[in-house]
Amino acid sequence: MITIFERAPTVEEYLLLRRSVGWRVPEAGTCEAPLARSLFSVVAHEADNGVVAMVRLVGDGLYALVADAVVIPDFQGRGLGRRLVARVVDWAERQGIQHIAVAADNTVAEFYLRGAFEDCGTRYLRLRAPK
Ligand SMILES: CC(C)(COP(=O)(O)OP(=O)(O)OC[C@H]1O[C@@H](n2cnc3c(N)ncnc32)[C@H](O)[C@@H]1OP(=O)(O)O)[C@@H](O)C(=O)NCCC(=O)NCCS
Repeated sequence: MITIFERAPTVEEYLLLRRSVGWRVPEAGTCEAPLARSLFSVVAHEADNGVVAMVRLVGDGLYALVADAVVIPDFQGRGLGRRLVARVVDWAERQGIQHIAVAADNTVAEFYLRGAFEDCGTRYLRLRAPK
């Protein structure tokens, strides 16, 4: 059985979940304060596997960005990502946050488009890595 908790992932959970989907894993010491500063977070817990998914919302109340939406591979494709994203979006709407967005590349944009997000044609630009 999967239970959803409204809390930030621990640093250990955060690193484990990121590693499970092949994402860069930051230094543990740099994560604790940012995780605590999330506007809102949810984690999904499964009895045999522990934490299997997370989604965070970061921002300041005027803007909210969905961040770190991760479902570990064995639990993908069962609607869990959709449930967690809907939960953070619902929270943001109840706070009256008007601008709720996500930066999604082409491999995952469809996931959000099947939910409540629309493509507004904007491009996500990231500061160049130093040479
Ligand atoms: C993206 C992710 C969170 C989706 O979670 P999930 O639990 O597998 O997704 P769901 O089962 O809730 O899928 C909901 C719908 O989106 C679709 N979907 C899910 N991932 C998709 C993808 N990468 N591309 C296109 N469609 C996708 C599903 O087929 C499903 O469609 P349906 O409405 O027709 O049934 C998960 O695959 C993941 O952790 N991926 C790696 C990390 C990542 O890229 N995160 C997103 C960062 S922006």
